[in-house]
Parts: sequence; C-alpha cells; structure tokens
Amino acid sequence: REPVPLIAGNWKMNGLASSAAEAKAIAEGIGGTRARVAVCPPAILTHRISEALADSPVIVGGQDAHWDDAGAFTGDISAEMLADAGAKLVILGHSERRQGYRETDEVVRRKVLAALRAGLEPLVCVGETLEEHDAGQAHAVVTRQVRGSLPPELKGTPFAIGYEPVWAIGTGRTPTCGQIEQIHRAIRDTLVDIFGEDGASVPILYGGSVKPSNAAEILHTAEVGGALVGGASLKADEFLEIVRAL
Ligand code: G3H
Repeated sequence: REPVPLIAGNWKMNGLASSAAEAKAIAEGIGGTRARVAVCPPAILTHRISEALADSPVIVGGQDAHWDDAGAFTGDISAEMLADAGAKLVILGHSERRQGYRETDEVVRRKVLAALRAGLEPLVCVGETLEEHDAGQAHAVVTRQVRGSLPPELKGTPFAIGYEPVWAIGTGRTPTCGQIEQIHRAIRDTLVDIFGEDGASVPILYGGSVKPSNAAEILHTAEVGGALVGGASLKADEFLEIVRAL
C-alpha cells in the first residue's frame, strides 16, 4: 500500500484567536488535493480551531503531549485533553522539544504510547543537527531515533514520521532532493524492518524551510510522503500553495 500523503502546518508558538480565520481559509482552499491536510496550533487554540474546522476535512493536531494521562505535572497537557479539544493528531519529538526540553528517544516513545491511548495519530519527528550532518552521521542518527522513538504497539495503527534536519528548520537552507531521498529511504527501510509490510504505508514527511518556491520538487521526491511546514504555514495563501504543489 502506498502511503497517503500528509501536509501538516506546525504553527509553533504563533497564532491568536483571530487565527481561526486563517484555518477557515485553508479549509476553503484545499479542494481537490489527494493529501490529508492538518494544522497544529498552540494547544490553547485547539478547541477554537477545531470548531472553526468542523465540517471540513482539515485535521487539527497538537504540537506535543505529556507521556502520562493525568497527574501533578504543572503546565503540561495530556494527549487525552488534546483529543477532547478536537485534535486527531499530535506532533511528538520535534527537534525544538528534543533540544529545548531535552526530550530523549525514550521520552518520545512514552509520549507515542500516551497518544495511542488517547486515540491520537502520532507524527513523530526525527532529524540530525548540523554538527551530526557535517560529521556524516545523519543516517545513523536518524535511524537510531526512529528505532528508539517508535514502540512496537504502533504496528497496525496510523502514524507518520517527520524528517526534519535541524539545520534546515527556519533557516531557509534545505538539503538537496537527493539527500532527502537518501534519508527517507533509510527511514523506510527501518520502518519495514520494525513493522514489516505495514512500514511501507507510513507517510514520511519532509520538514525544514518548505515554502511555495521549493514545495513541488520536494513533494515529488521519491519516498517523500508530504511536508511538515513551519513558517510558511502561518499564512493560508502560502500554505495552500504548498498543498497545491503536490
Ligand atoms: O515543524 C516544522 C518545522 O520545524 C519546519 O519549520 O518550515 O519554519 O523551517 P520551518
């Protein structure tokens, strides 16, 4: 089975109540795409954006969730709370969480399990730093993250992978399509090794400085099953150009 492409906008810590209008504009503009389209607003906007997108095929996602279901974790949000607010998906292990909050593969793996308990589709991010890239370790780092972050319980349930080289996030720098293809193939091989045939239908998204001008060539690269878009997802017209590039 071919993966169904997924194009997800990660708003990060951007967007206010007025962003519901952006979300609606996205929903109105995506007609005809064969991709699934998702927007991931800050957690506090989940409910509002879900309401704005009710009756539309656009999926709402979270950007992170705790590994536990409830408890004394000041400031944290559980996967179940995101689901209750209307989310269907959750980004986990984003490099801004791995770096800024020291999330390890083990933490990400526990968060994936929490997402599954809440019925959320995990979008698990991996990616090498610039130092690792320059040292020729991208392949090793990324496959290690895939193995460490994905619990066997994912077998048979929908999930996606986001490959985001840290040095390409928000920098305007992107790897060549050949480099993207190479890493995506390594991720695919690892998924098939872990999950058997099921691993062949997991969409592997590329993320890092995807914008209207480079979206078509990236999205048409072999083994690229969509995009995880940061900055260019904040304006509906730019995000829609990326969706239409598929
Ligand atoms: O989750 C999205 C990525 O971190 C990419 O961000 O498109 O602003 O480079 P960017």
